[in-house]
Amino acid sequence: MLNIVIFGAPGSGKGTQSARIVEKYGLNHISTGDVLRAEIKNGTELGKTAKGYIDQGQLLPDELIIDILASVLDSFKESKGVIFDGFPRTIAQAEALKAMLKERKQEVSVMLDLEVPEDELMTRLIKRGQESGRADDNEETIKKRLTVYHSQTSPLIDWYKADGKYQHINGLGTMDGIFGDIVASIEKL
Ligand code: AP5
Ligand code: MG
Repeated sequence: MLNIVIFGAPGSGKGTQSARIVEKYGLNHISTGDVLRAEIKNGTELGKTAKGYIDQGQLLPDELIIDILASVLDSFKESKGVIFDGFPRTIAQAEALKAMLKERKQEVSVMLDLEVPEDELMTRLIKRGQESGRADDNEETIKKRLTVYHSQTSPLIDWYKADGKYQHINGLGTMDGIFGDIVASIEKL
């Protein structure tokens, strides 16, 4: 079982690299951001709630997101493992994930931290906002997302170091080069 937490600031390449990992290792992929955007698109109650937070660059409440994650996890049958993208984002979520996997006699194999300088994150997200129009990819909201990342999410770096699962990845460079570094980390497990 290969359970990977792919971690990093907004725009660090979590989604991009997840797709490659899924293709190579045949894992299931959970992106909490993608789940929420699908709910918004379908006009569900959850989508309406999520939109309020996402448009402000704020995190949804832990209890809500943990429930969503648990139900997606239970929908995977005969899984080779899961890549968690955009979850956990708070210490409470990391603790919940640990407990959830333990109940299923599993654990996180590694946390891959994609580190990218802030000016590059901004450049990537502004560009994506212009091309694909993701509603939270505008300068004002990106700044809020980065602030939330620094205050609520980046403490997970030390949390995963203490848990012995932390692996740093240089997230600046070509998508293929970064993927090569990720594969090298996974092969060492
Ligand atoms: P989420 O969807 O997770 O967004 P995010 O963390 O802000 O990250 P992104 O998806 O924008 O970036 P990414 O790291 O996936 O990078 P990507 O590969 O796309 O969350 C959105 C919102 O949902 C949150 O703000 C919150 O409101 C809510 N939410 C989600 N999860 C939650 C949770 N657990 N708890 C509470 N609330 C939650 O790449 C970005 C761009 O860069 C792309 O255009 C890509 O083509 C490009 N790119 C990628 N790699 C490279 C490279 N090496 N060189 C150049 N360009 C590159
Ligand atoms: Mg993403």
